[in-house]
Amino acid sequence: MFIRSQATSPVPDDGKPRPKALARQPSEKKSPAPSARQAPNGAKPDEPHRRFWVADDGAHEHLLRVAKRQQKLKDVLRSWFDKKDGHAEDQPPSLMADWITQKRSEQDKAPTDMKGGPMQSHTLVQKYGKCSEIIGHGAFGVVRIAHKVDVKDPKREQLFAVKEFHQRPGESDKRYQKRLTSEFCISSSMQHPNVIQTLDLLKDEKGDYCEVMEYCAGGDLYTLILASTTLEVAEADCFFKQLMRGVEYIHEMGVSHRDLKPENLLLTQHGAIKITDFGNGECFRMAWEKQAHMTAGVCGSGPYIAPEEYVSEEFDPRAVDVWACGVIYMAMRTGRHLWRVAQKGEDEFFTRYLEDRREESGFRPIEVLRRAKCRNVIYSILDPNPTRRLTAHQVLLSEWVKDVKICVSGEQGF
Ligand SMILES: Nc1ncnc2c1ncn2[C@@H]1O[C@H](COP(=O)(O)OP(=O)(O)OP(=O)(O)O)[C@@H](O)[C@H]1O
Ligand SMILES: [Mg+2]
Ligand SMILES: [Zn+2]
Repeated sequence: MFIRSQATSPVPDDGKPRPKALARQPSEKKSPAPSARQAPNGAKPDEPHRRFWVADDGAHEHLLRVAKRQQKLKDVLRSWFDKKDGHAEDQPPSLMADWITQKRSEQDKAPTDMKGGPMQSHTLVQKYGKCSEIIGHGAFGVVRIAHKVDVKDPKREQLFAVKEFHQRPGESDKRYQKRLTSEFCISSSMQHPNVIQTLDLLKDEKGDYCEVMEYCAGGDLYTLILASTTLEVAEADCFFKQLMRGVEYIHEMGVSHRDLKPENLLLTQHGAIKITDFGNGECFRMAWEKQAHMTAGVCGSGPYIAPEEYVSEEFDPRAVDVWACGVIYMAMRTGRHLWRVAQKGEDEFFTRYLEDRREESGFRPIEVLRRAKCRNVIYSILDPNPTRRLTAHQVLLSEWVKDVKICVSGEQGF
């Protein structure tokens, strides 16, 4: 079962591999690529597929496979659909339980999306190839893979991700245009190894817009956490540092994301993180401005939304992105959300957090991260007072994060 009890299963934070977690990994045929190294538990490279391993010199590599992960999640889903209720109420919300609820509602309204591809315009097909299998479901539209066959060598193909946009029911033209503009204009102007590369915006034959992006074969961080329960410490640390680099970059560019969560963090096969889905993105400072604009209004997804969004008329959008990164780190380490909503009095886990963070004994889910340097940074990221909260730049300068080793893939974004 994927639900993990924090009370009985603290997350080891000693950097040592946990055979139990590794044993739960899909047993897939090993790819020949990064196999010259020894897996952390002593497994030889020709043994079944390993997701993550560390070499003797401390360098690490990832090998992420989506197909097996999806099969595993489908199996879980099938068994859960037959059950009425699955999780203990005194536990903080698990990512798995939320995912099952979401899949249930998707199933109710799905079939039309599943039947066939979009009506593809000539330009879309000519430039990026034919769209086929669905790789992701968004709120209103799907994401598919486009296969562009090499004319000189038909066995070779280049893959792209194509996201369809639809105007949401009740969404005004103005709001729809803003969403499109935010998403395309913002993401296509970003150039960073940890931010998705957006290539084009085209219309399909129905007149719906399609955004073309680089394809990330490692899937999204959400399904990786679901399928693995928790990540290795060094694995989570590497993803976190990449994420903070991406966030520091977008903030330097005058953009805040406003919807950071594992679903919006894509992975390449070798473990590079790419921030995606700028549909809620905001420009808080224009190129000619020195001062950042404050923002207003609750935005994002429940457990990742910062507390000031509920209580302040205006707040710094950069600080809410950093808050979300703290919640994401905890999800990677525990497989759980810390709370459903960071609203005092509305959520027992958040209310307890506000009390416990002031006590010497601290807040249990964070205390189980055994390295004090790491815990302190997490507490400072999850500071309910946004003016005291660390910035992305400060997080990267912290002793803990400075020492985190990023793999070559994460450095370069391949
Ligand atoms: N470039 C890509 N490569 C691989 N998978 C992708 C890519 N883009 C999106 N996906 C998959 O599709 C899912 C949905 O994509 P995305 O987050 O961009 O859409 P969305 O959530 O519908 O956006 P919105 O909130 O604007 O409706 C992602 O969580 C991911 O699983
Ligand atoms: Mg999304
Ligand atoms: Zn890495």
